[in-house]
Amino acid sequence: MQQWYDNAIIYQVYPRSFQDSNNDGLGDLEGLLQRLDYIKKLGVNAIWINPVFTSPQVDNGYDVSNYFNIDPHFGSMATMNALIKRAHELDMHIILDFVLNHTSDQHPWFQDALKSPKSLFRDYYIWEQTKNGQVPNNWGSFFGGSVWAKHPSEKNTYYFHLFDQHMPDLNWANPEVRQAMIEVAKYWVEKGVDGLRLDAFIHIAKANLHQDFPSSEKGAVIAEPMYANLPNVVTYLQEFINELRKINPDLFILGEGASAGPELAALYTRSNRGNALCDGIVSFRNLPKERLADQDALAMKLKLPAKEKLDLAQLPESIVHWQTSLAQTTQPTLYFSNHDMPRMATAYGDSEYLERSLKTLATMQYLQKGVPIIYYGEELGLQNVELERFTAFQDQTVTALKTQLSGREQTAVLHYLSQTHKTPARQPMPWDDTVNQGFSEHEPWLRTATKQVTVAEEEEDPDSLLNFYRQLLHLKQQELFANGEFRLLTAPTGLLVYERYLAGKSALIVTNLTRESVSYSNDDWTNADIIYTVGQVTLADNQWHLAPWSSIVLKQDQLPWL
Ligand code: GLC
Repeated sequence: MQQWYDNAIIYQVYPRSFQDSNNDGLGDLEGLLQRLDYIKKLGVNAIWINPVFTSPQVDNGYDVSNYFNIDPHFGSMATMNALIKRAHELDMHIILDFVLNHTSDQHPWFQDALKSPKSLFRDYYIWEQTKNGQVPNNWGSFFGGSVWAKHPSEKNTYYFHLFDQHMPDLNWANPEVRQAMIEVAKYWVEKGVDGLRLDAFIHIAKANLHQDFPSSEKGAVIAEPMYANLPNVVTYLQEFINELRKINPDLFILGEGASAGPELAALYTRSNRGNALCDGIVSFRNLPKERLADQDALAMKLKLPAKEKLDLAQLPESIVHWQTSLAQTTQPTLYFSNHDMPRMATAYGDSEYLERSLKTLATMQYLQKGVPIIYYGEELGLQNVELERFTAFQDQTVTALKTQLSGREQTAVLHYLSQTHKTPARQPMPWDDTVNQGFSEHEPWLRTATKQVTVAEEEEDPDSLLNFYRQLLHLKQQELFANGEFRLLTAPTGLLVYERYLAGKSALIVTNLTRESVSYSNDDWTNADIIYTVGQVTLADNQWHLAPWSSIVLKQDQLPWL
């Protein structure tokens, strides 16, 4: 049966940065509502909104203190209702970011649990007692340090937090927690949202806490096998999703499986006993990457993440692997970045051929079989902004770096982090050349001096990246590109070539992902029609000659091998 999300094209909105309607420097739902026509015109049919529930905003909304209301920074429930209604009128779907692994420490459940070991909510969270003031084990938090934080008053008592210490993990082994989270999610499904992005769901099951993770390092270490992708994740997830699908069988579930490769993604989307799990998976392993050869010595010394680029030698195999692993269950998700990664233009664009490289990369990625997810501003070619202060990164591990560095080193590290860290990819959307680029009349929450290209400028230019994305996504809506079969063709490294075909129609996509000129020939396609080209492509002696970062898309009313 066809579901709306079989043809989904998703636009990810970081609401804090999209449009500020009340001039407090923070984007909000009313601002998003005002910009729905812009999103619609892009050719997408779904919007994933990062968390907007009531939250102390320790981790920009991923620390929820009330799941049944909207954070006042973002607006009110009335605005959320209006947003869902208007999106539906425009034939667009709303996907909410749903945080289920942890809550805020300000959530009433945790506040009650803190009061006494006898609290009815004590077992909603994960507690351990130790002797001698030692942490229960050496497992490390993704946000630095141990996963264990001390109870503020009970001696030798610790609670578990995989992320910030103000985000205690829920105890999914407790059936009451599972039921409570189902109730929360039901509330939103009944309200009419069309999908949920399940934040960090691969962590909801934990191993036996009474063991260290083997490591030669002293102190806390990242211990994924202890708290990621354990068998009970599927058990808990299935129960959760089944209950929601009883209310809305068409509910789209996009799971965030940070460390999932193709096999795990298949596991989390596989139909099991007649009940599907997730409909799509997003992960950090969607594209093969290699370390840049010239690494920054200071960054390496400080153990900052290395700079990476697309691994062109691995790319074809990686694409085939994702396509084939998910062929029986769902579709791959197609994206370059999100709010947890550097922006596409910064990570993968070629500064010498910037616009052309972005058009060719988008062609390579989004015409494959799968569901595109466009991170807001990608369609303008936005780059990570330069942040000039350590505190601006809003990350304790970055703030802690400052004191270790001389003035010159500080400048170098700030520049390095501006290209690799997630926060510089969360900048206000630049709409026009009015004050603060039309985002807000107030100083935006993320202070940056970087001048960015605006929507208004790109609207004017028929060859702009924005107008290119509009054409590309409209093409993607055609049956052939939405549902057609996918077939990768062999080609020299750096040249990515594939076909799509459906009901006697077919298309060929040839993309040159390098700074070199390359030639390509394929006898099945010499008489086909050109849909579009990027850069410079010429046909001579039955060969296409593609200048650096150029691409061509062809179509014909027959199958290539006939
Ligand atoms: C996910 C989110 C990330 C957040 C974390 C904790 O990975 O994408 O932004 O910090 O979960 O909720």
